[in-house]
Amino acid sequence: MADDPTSQANYTEIATEHVSFKWTIDFANQKIAGSATHDLRVLKDDIGEVIFDTADLVLESVEVEGKSASYEVKPKHPIMGSALHIPLPSGLKSGSLIKATIKYETTKECTALQWLAKEQTQGKSFPYLFSQCQPIYARAMAPVQDSPSVKIKYSAEVTSILPALMSAIRQSPPSDGPAHDGKVIGKDAVTYVYHQPIPIPSYLIAIAAGNVVYRPFPRLPGKEWTCGIWSEPELIEAAYWEFSEDTARFLASAEDIVVPYRFGVYDLLVLPPSFPYGGMENACLTFLTPTLLAGDRTLVDVIAHELTHSWFGNGVTHAHASHFWLNEGWTTYIERLLLQVIHSPAERGFSFIIGNKALKDDLEMYVDRPKYQRLVIEFEKGEDPDDAYSGIPYDKGANLILHLERTLGGLDVFLPYVRDYVSTFMGKSITTQQWKSHLYGYYERNGGAEKIKALDSIDWEAWFYGEGLELPVKMEYDSSLAESAYKLAERWDSSRSVEISKLAFQANDLDAFSSTQKVVFLERLQSYKPLPSSHIEHLASLYKVSSTHNAEIRLRFYQFSLVDPSSPAAQKYAAEAADWVIGGGSGMVVGRMKFCRDVFRAVFKVNKDLAVNAFQKEKNSFHPIARKLIEKESMRLRML
Ligand code: BES
Ligand code: ZN
Repeated sequence: MADDPTSQANYTEIATEHVSFKWTIDFANQKIAGSATHDLRVLKDDIGEVIFDTADLVLESVEVEGKSASYEVKPKHPIMGSALHIPLPSGLKSGSLIKATIKYETTKECTALQWLAKEQTQGKSFPYLFSQCQPIYARAMAPVQDSPSVKIKYSAEVTSILPALMSAIRQSPPSDGPAHDGKVIGKDAVTYVYHQPIPIPSYLIAIAAGNVVYRPFPRLPGKEWTCGIWSEPELIEAAYWEFSEDTARFLASAEDIVVPYRFGVYDLLVLPPSFPYGGMENACLTFLTPTLLAGDRTLVDVIAHELTHSWFGNGVTHAHASHFWLNEGWTTYIERLLLQVIHSPAERGFSFIIGNKALKDDLEMYVDRPKYQRLVIEFEKGEDPDDAYSGIPYDKGANLILHLERTLGGLDVFLPYVRDYVSTFMGKSITTQQWKSHLYGYYERNGGAEKIKALDSIDWEAWFYGEGLELPVKMEYDSSLAESAYKLAERWDSSRSVEISKLAFQANDLDAFSSTQKVVFLERLQSYKPLPSSHIEHLASLYKVSSTHNAEIRLRFYQFSLVDPSSPAAQKYAAEAADWVIGGGSGMVVGRMKFCRDVFRAVFKVNKDLAVNAFQKEKNSFHPIARKLIEKESMRLRML
């Protein structure tokens, strides 16, 4: 049986090589209807059947090699969904190809898709649809072998009354031509044709449709690839400004560090605020939360992160959920290296410092489920990978790679290895063991006994399977950018017994700080005994941190002010925080889970009813994945 603990597909016996989608987006009935045609490669003689993953799809018919065929949809597993079994002709030989077409529709239960009413968009004039398939929701959008061990090419013909985007190269109509092929937006149906010629895991299949427009970024001389940005017209100016300087530069730097970019197009799409992540590295088209539009280009590290996935994740892919850290740990390590190359070594250290705080919080969150504190997690069949989702694979992973870089002798000897790693496994899906074997193999060939001794000094067991709140090694980072933030936090700490009227703090204390330094300042305050409520309110009114548009800062302020649940400050700001994430009743919720889940969690500790009521009021405005995870968590917290 196949290894992936989250999939029921028999992908080691027969695997999709190419899938062709023919879809119609039905905004009125909130469904996608159409077909998926799989070109399957038989990998074992006489396999008898192909098994796909599905979740909450309505099937209409199945054809095998163009002829109507029987099929069986098994009862739904709560996490893995319903296995679709399709019997195949007997006598199939390993190596042969076979075609299967499934006609189907998505349903209201679909966890991959969010359908937004026009009020939930910037423009308020047209509805909007977008998908989120990672980790295991592609099966709710189409029948697929929903494991990152299966890499597929795809083509798509999508008929829609609003411009439709996919994680692939657009064939027609042209991206830079008239919007919606010059037809009436929101009324006339246009068929959008896409092709993804590079095999990708199913979690990178993505679709978005809405009133979106495109602006290309300036091309870099000598580069074949193009970059640009999509968003609703109301945001295109701001979005272009925020990202046009850095995107192509980051991509070119990543090419210098690793190997050339393979996907031809690297576009960004700024989604409505209910998008549940900061960014999602869908092939050719990174999806972004609009909370990145801070107006000061300070959140571009998210772009550096997502485009780095083009190599780590979209190129070299984790075999399944247990090895998820190979995607995120490596990406986080390279993202921070890009910050060093493009900005300064101090920026890299600063990013590790911020990551370490998130790591500490997440390790603490899992004290009662220490298995999820591990870097390599052994999932049981059918366990929900979203239960384990946290910063741990990101920051434990990035620290392991940084520790390797240092142990092996610095970037000069490490970067050639990184290139060899990516070139060796490009296009493949691998496990932690395969990664480690290659690492040893590489340094045996390039360095010999001395380097192997260095590798043997690593406590692999502790890094891979260690639990608890500490990294196996005490790591040091360049902290020069953190010092001023630490100093200011220290001044607040030592002023706790001073009367408010005698405090010497000024509104301009933060003027010289970057947004990230403000974040670190507020995080540092959390490491002290809570300040008196009067001080917290004074701080908020001086520094305007509870009304800022920068969501990273605002989140940190609420976390800091809610630390002592019984304090007057916590009562006051819990209400504000809850109102912030539910969008003050506008339907425009702050759906990025990093913000809304953390806020609901903190508010819950202060006032259960407030958290539950706020969520209940707007729960249908959240993406189905966010809704599911917030509900699950509130159940768990209630039972504690
Ligand atoms: N691939 C992830 C998002 C993801 C992971 C979605 C697992 C579903 C399951 C993406 O690359 C990511 O890591 N996003 C981060 C941003 C980043 C800068 C750390 C996020 O959304 O916070
Ligand atoms: Zn990532």
